Amino acid sequence: MGPASSETAFIEARDLRKTYHVGKIEVEALRGISFSVQKGEFVSVVGPSGSGKSTLFYLLGGLTRADGGSVILDGEELAALSDAERTRLRKRKIGFVFQKFNLLPTLDARSNILIAQEISGNGGRDPAYFNRITELLGLTRRLGHRPAELSGGEQQRVALARALINKPAVVLADEPTGNLDSKNSEVVLGMLRQSNKELGQTVLMITHNPEAAKYGDRIIHMRDGQIVKPEEDPQWVAR
Ligand SMILES: Nc1ncnc2c1ncn2[C@@H]1O[C@H](COP(=O)(O)OP(=O)(O)OP(=O)(O)O)[C@@H](O)[C@H]1O
Ligand SMILES: [Mg+2]
Repeated sequence: MGPASSETAFIEARDLRKTYHVGKIEVEALRGISFSVQKGEFVSVVGPSGSGKSTLFYLLGGLTRADGGSVILDGEELAALSDAERTRLRKRKIGFVFQKFNLLPTLDARSNILIAQEISGNGGRDPAYFNRITELLGLTRRLGHRPAELSGGEQQRVALARALINKPAVVLADEPTGNLDSKNSEVVLGMLRQSNKELGQTVLMITHNPEAAKYGDRIIHMRDGQIVKPEEDPQWVAR
């Protein structure tokens, strides 16, 4: 058992470190990040470009290995799992919204959303839920379009639908409103908050938009690969 504060943690990062090597140059993207997120919490992560937010997203989702520290997701330390076990945990428990969407170019929007279900092996189809989220996201008339035939904002909404379709325990979203106008941002943020409240999903959302960040129960500020106090986040203070 860990300390009292982390006993009910659903996501826990302990002293996470990550350095990228580009030729002879080293970039310390994460320099010791520790925090925990409780089950059912909606946490926003903000910070300037290059502060390590996407790197953190990849580590929390078990998509990249840390150089130091650990990630514990629902009681399982990711680094202690085999690749196959980690992949399985990811498919069963996490819905990802990638900053660059990662939609499959040859599939239409409908298949891009439904493929998440096939991959997860979660079985339980819920056509009503599919209809509900695609309708709320304004995608109903675009389901037959491939990504190249969709606007950036539409692709982003398809990516969100794909992340939510399995009703995952955890939603990790990297700039889910980065390509949206304010009206569609509200729709996306409202949907994240709704699935957080109704389904008890734990949500960790990265954003550089202070208005979007307010949808979270709590805001984590990052700067230069570390967590800082809000008053140490110059972008934030300036607003
Ligand atoms: N694959 C990579 N190889 C080398 N350096 C990388 C790689 N990915 C990120 N970096 C560097 O690591 C640092 C953190 O990058 P990261 O993508 O995590 O930032 P971010 O906070 O998500 O930025 P943004 O708001 O622009 O998306 C940056 O300095 C970046 O240049
Ligand atoms: Mg990023």
